[in-house]
This record gives sequence, structure tokens and C-alpha cells, in this order.
Amino acid sequence: MKNLQNILAFLGVFIVFCSWISFSQALQNFVPVGCFKDKLQDRALPDLIINHRISDPVIDWSNLSITVQSCAKAAQDKGYVYFALQFWGECWAGHSGHLTYDKHGPSTHCERGVGKGYTNFVYRNTGVDNECEAPRVLDSEDRAMTYSKKLAPFLCDEHMVPGWYRFKGKAGNAIANTCPAKWSCGTHMAGWMKGSHPQPSQGITDAKVCIHYPEQNNCCVGEEPIKVRNCGRFYVYKLKPAEIGCFSRYCGNGR
Ligand SMILES: *[C@@H]1O[C@H](CO)[C@@H](O)[C@H](O)[C@H]1NC(C)=O
Repeated sequence: MKNLQNILAFLGVFIVFCSWISFSQALQNFVPVGCFKDKLQDRALPDLIINHRISDPVIDWSNLSITVQSCAKAAQDKGYVYFALQFWGECWAGHSGHLTYDKHGPSTHCERGVGKGYTNFVYRNTGVDNECEAPRVLDSEDRAMTYSKKLAPFLCDEHMVPGWYRFKGKAGNAIANTCPAKWSCGTHMAGWMKGSHPQPSQGITDAKVCIHYPEQNNCCVGEEPIKVRNCGRFYVYKLKPAEIGCFSRYCGNGR
């Protein structure tokens, strides 16, 4: 009986500890994007989500990062990836912000991490897993589905470090999204993503990579579960070596 009490007490402390952890991690990371012009009649980020000139916490002129953090939290809670501080205390965001935040061009009218009049100091949320901050890069030309030279030996992702990746440069700007041709992207069994990419506000989503087995003309002989995230102007994918082994590889779209 004493034991049970001890266990219950321990569990209680443990639960309090866990909720403290999740509370202290409630604010996700964000990174500065830059200082950009805005226009009254054509807002680059159209939604005023909180105005710290009048709402709590009102601007603390000795520490503007309190304002920025509060804006970041409000933006994250509402599913915005891009947000900005304008006129020191106005917190602006937009669900298409990744497309529009710089539409009026760059500006120098910012200070201490916030914009002055009609100027946005723009930030980007980096996601719950920090997936949008510094993903590993896959950029070799031979990884593109448009790379048609048959390599010998084939290349393989067997030593890939599990984690978040983005496609870039000659590999393309996203993972291949249609079935690659036989022996393209430098490998025997080309991996490509079935289905479409998510919107930024959807956060991390589940997706499937199909493995193309050319000898059977089978575009989806194996399926590999992956995660995909739209970071605004690029996608990231949570990848690990494919179950099917060598020689298989995740292919870029070559665009
Ligand atoms: C400003 O506020 C932030 C967030 O509350 C805090 O972490 C930081 O230490 C403060 N900086 C100064 C200089 O007081």
C-alpha cells in the first residue's frame, strides 16, 4: 500500500514536470527574414492579429523582444508561418504570407527587430520540430529525376542520416512527384512522392514515397512513409534510408 502511494506521488510529480516542460516549449522557434516595405491599401501580410500598441502586453520600449515573442506566439497559435512587426507594436500575418511578404520590396525602415511606419520586420516560424530552420540539403545533379545517365555502380541512400531534408540546386526544388523514368536519378529503384504537397499552415503532414522497380515496370513496388512540411518557399521532408535498401534513392524533381 505504501508502495502504491509512493508510485502515485511520483506519477503526480512526473505529470506536473511534463506539463511544465510542454508549457516552457510552447513557444516554437522563429527566425528573422528581413525588413520590407508595406502599403496601406495593399497589405503584404493582410491580417492584423494583435496590436501591442493597445493590447497586452503593451510595448515595453526597453525590451521590444517581449512584443516580438508575443506576436510569434499569436501567429503560431493561429497557424501562420510568416508574421511581422510594424509600427513597433502591430503584429501582422497572412496565410499566403510566404508568397506576399516581400511584394513591395526591401526596406531599411526597421530597428531593434521591429518595423517603423508602413514597414514590416518579417519573421518565419521554424516549426514544432525546427524542421524549417536548417534542413540538410540534397542538391547533386545525379539525384534529379531528369538525370538520365545510367550510373554504374548505382547510387544508394543506405547511409542517409535520418532527419529533415530539402531539395535544392540541380537536384530540383522538391522531391520527385511523378514516377521517374527507368534508372534516372543515378539509381536502380527511384523514390518519388505520391500525392500533393501540403500548405504551410498544415504543419508537418504524413506522406508516402513510392519505390519504382523498373524491371517490373512497377512505379510503386514499395511504399516508404515520410513526413513533409511546407516551409513557405521550400518544402522539407523527414527521410531515412528506404526499407527496400540498395540500390534505392529519393529523387528530386530536377526543376
Ligand atoms: C527581454 O524580454 C525577454 C522575453 O521576456 C527576456 O528573455 C530577455 O531577457 C529580456 N531582455 C532584457 C535585456 O531585459
